Amino acid sequence: MCDFSSCLFDVAMKPLEALRLTERRRQLLSSASGRVLEVGAGTGANLPYFRYEHIADLTLTDAEVRARLQHRVRWTAEAAGLHPARLSVCEAPAEQLPFEDASFDCVVATLVFCTVADQQAGLTEVRRVLKPGGALLFMEHVRPPRAVPAKLFAVLNPAWRLVSGGCNLTRETLAALRQVGLPPRLYGTFGGGIFTYGIAPKAA
Ligand SMILES: C[S@@+](CC[C@H](N)C(=O)[O-])C[C@H]1O[C@@H](n2cnc3c(N)ncnc32)[C@H](O)[C@@H]1O
Repeated sequence: MCDFSSCLFDVAMKPLEALRLTERRRQLLSSASGRVLEVGAGTGANLPYFRYEHIADLTLTDAEVRARLQHRVRWTAEAAGLHPARLSVCEAPAEQLPFEDASFDCVVATLVFCTVADQQAGLTEVRRVLKPGGALLFMEHVRPPRAVPAKLFAVLNPAWRLVSGGCNLTRETLAALRQVGLPPRLYGTFGGGIFTYGIAPKAA
C-alpha cells in the first residue's frame, strides 16, 4: 500500500470506526502494559488508544511500513512526551518476527490475521515472542457464524481478496488461536458475530 492508499484506507474505515471499532479499540488496548508488540500496525489506527503510562515500550511492526505510520509514531511520541526509544517501528512479517522468544508481555493484533498469508505461522510466532503469562489482545473479523452469511462470504471471498489486498472473509481465527495454544476469551462480538475481540493468554 502506498501512502496515498494508506490515506484512502483511513477514509474508507471512518464509518466503521465511528460505528463500533473506535470504542472496541479503546476497551481492548486499555489493558496493554509492559513490553508491547503490535503486529500489522497498518496506518497506526491504534496509537491514540494505548495508555502509555502503563507501557514500558511499544514496538509496531508491519509487513510493509508506510510513511503514514512513521509520521503518526513521531507525532504520538511528541504529544505523549515519550522518549523515542519507547515507541519504535520495525518492518517484519508476522510469520517471521525478528525478536527473541518470550520478549513481550503483550502482543496486539487488530484486523490483521484476516490478511496474514500464513495465519498459523503468524500466530505461532506471536505465541513464541510472548512471555509465559503474557497475552495477545486481538480484534478480528472472522467467518460469519450463521450458515447463510458464511456461504455468501465464501462465494465473495476470491473477489474480495483481489480488491482488498489479500484480506479473507472466511478465516476461522478463534479455532486457529486454540490450535497454537492461545485459547481466546472473548470480550464480545459485533456485526452479527463477524467481528470478534478479546484476549488470548499464553499459559504461565
Ligand atoms: C486491514 S489492515 C489493519 C491495520 C491496523 N491493524 C488496524 O487495526 O487498522 C491489515 C494490515 O496487516 C498488514 N499485513 C498483511 N500481511 C501481513 C503479514 N504477513 N505480516 C504483518 N503484517 C501484515 C498489512 O500490511 C496491513 O497494514
